[in-house]
Amino acid sequence: MKKFKTLLLISVIALLLINDAKAQSNLITNVLNRKTISLNGTWQYIIDPYETGFYDYRREERNANDREAYWNTDKFDNKTDRKEFGFIDKYAIKVPGDWNSQDEKFVYYEGTVWYKKSFDVDLATSNERVFLHFGAVNYKADVYLNGKKLGMHKGGFTAFNFEIPKTLLKAKDNFLVVKVDNKRSIDEIPTINTDWWNYGGITRDVNLVFVPQNFVQDYSVQLAKGSYAGKFKTIEGWIKLNTKGQENVWLEIPELKIKQELTINGDSVAFSVKSSSLQLWSSKTPKLYQVIIRTKNEKIIDKIGFRNIEIQGGKLILNGKPVFLRGISVHEEIPNDVRRAYSYKDAQHLLGQAKELNANMVRLAHYPHNEYMTRAADSLGIMVWSEIPVYWTIDFKSEEVLAKAKTQLEEMITRDRNRASIIIWSVGNETPVNKERTLFMSRLVKKVKEMDQSRIVAAALESFGIQGVQTIEDPLGEFTDIVAVNQYIGWYGGLPDNSRKVSWATKYDKPLFFSETGAEGFSGLHADSLTRFSEEFQEWYYKEQVGMFKRMPANFAGLSPWILNDFRSPRRNHPVYQEGWNNKGLFDHNGKKKKAFYVLKAYYDEMEKLYDK
Ligand code: GCU
Repeated sequence: MKKFKTLLLISVIALLLINDAKAQSNLITNVLNRKTISLNGTWQYIIDPYETGFYDYRREERNANDREAYWNTDKFDNKTDRKEFGFIDKYAIKVPGDWNSQDEKFVYYEGTVWYKKSFDVDLATSNERVFLHFGAVNYKADVYLNGKKLGMHKGGFTAFNFEIPKTLLKAKDNFLVVKVDNKRSIDEIPTINTDWWNYGGITRDVNLVFVPQNFVQDYSVQLAKGSYAGKFKTIEGWIKLNTKGQENVWLEIPELKIKQELTINGDSVAFSVKSSSLQLWSSKTPKLYQVIIRTKNEKIIDKIGFRNIEIQGGKLILNGKPVFLRGISVHEEIPNDVRRAYSYKDAQHLLGQAKELNANMVRLAHYPHNEYMTRAADSLGIMVWSEIPVYWTIDFKSEEVLAKAKTQLEEMITRDRNRASIIIWSVGNETPVNKERTLFMSRLVKKVKEMDQSRIVAAALESFGIQGVQTIEDPLGEFTDIVAVNQYIGWYGGLPDNSRKVSWATKYDKPLFFSETGAEGFSGLHADSLTRFSEEFQEWYYKEQVGMFKRMPANFAGLSPWILNDFRSPRRNHPVYQEGWNNKGLFDHNGKKKKAFYVLKAYYDEMEKLYDK
């Protein structure tokens, strides 16, 4: 009987794993290169802190045909009609973009804002299917078209889409309404407590996406693991269609003279092709190839780099060579405008600053950034750590919260699986060491590995010691591929010269990475180096840290100090030195370099010579 039970248990776990691996979002990937109509621009809005448009006066959810529901028409039937809501141009808001930066009244607003956009679409002659795609909405989006609900999405930093039934679309004046709610709550991801501004709104692009009846839903085109050496390099992956059937698809990489016809029986097909002339992607040579995926009704073009990231003997190895990550942490924010970053121009600006620092890597904290950022990193040769906002103390006992975290992981990986720049998926930041958390986080690590074996899995751990040997033995280090640690010796404990009394070790034979280290420097405040918040203190901090970096053990693989730019945080309330800003940036609110910038840059110049000689 016991044997039977064991067999049963193994088969249940196996089923769960298959189900987990197979479970794919219906996210349409590479939207930037599909047939789209942009719905970016001016929308109209209603601020609705009591969610009157969603609940009646008994706090019951309004039913679909409720004439006072804000997703139904705001037009009066006649002069006797009563409507106590409406969308007019006087209340206009830009999409994409957070609402906080668009009007004083929104700066601290947390709650519901209804967005409305009218659009025309001529589909009379087409047999195409139409999807409504959002780059991101923070935090919860309820989406309605012409009075009908298309769907609901939670998660403030990942893309999602809903199909629009053709019968619902009109040629003229389609009434699109989105209820956006950015209220924080204890059982969401992130939870209620974060050290960043809770920017709300439709924060990224919105597009109508037009696809054939059966279309390419998703695909993976990567260098086969370990295939970086030797004359022939192998490119492998798969192509997934939206619906099952028998279709021929073609994979083309013209520059490599690859044109492979594949036959799909079902909904997906795997492939493996060889090339003798492939140039690997790296920071020095960020080579991207045009990749074309074609079916009889569709041609999708992408730009993909081919590289191999792995760990060998406790070192991080890129294309067979040890690599040192000269990183910097980045929030998705333009401090000069005090707003969420969302555009190609914003990405070029932020990564341009990282390049000025001579960084070859960015930690996109603490949530997946917009797609322009990861595509720009591909082109600029900047390696990326991409992370879901399992941040600080979420509810680790809850299966529902775990499911939300897995959904965000899935959406992050699905969107960016073909971005060569992304070398690390991170499942969280500074989570407390306890049994429930380590089980929760280990299940997220497993989820990543089920979805993508080609990248490193990490989580930012914590270290608080300010003297003696700091041995990292957080049990989560058992599951991650590298041991990434946030340490603030001299800012959150002791003074910067405490770094001289600290040495480092890890319980795990894995690369050691400082995912954060930093100190505040109030731009323009100059004093002696002992004066906290002065630029000189921050400069001293970095000088002492660099001294420590130079004494690190052989498995030290790099760092991503905290942080590129000063950024908004409701937790930073010193009335002179902060005023709602966390000033650990190496650039200040206006993009001016602080003295500490030059200390880290000098160290990165040295490390570049050492590793890239
Ligand atoms: C933490 C956290 C960051 C925070 C930083 C700070 O390590 O990960 O999100 O902003 O420290 O205290 O400035």
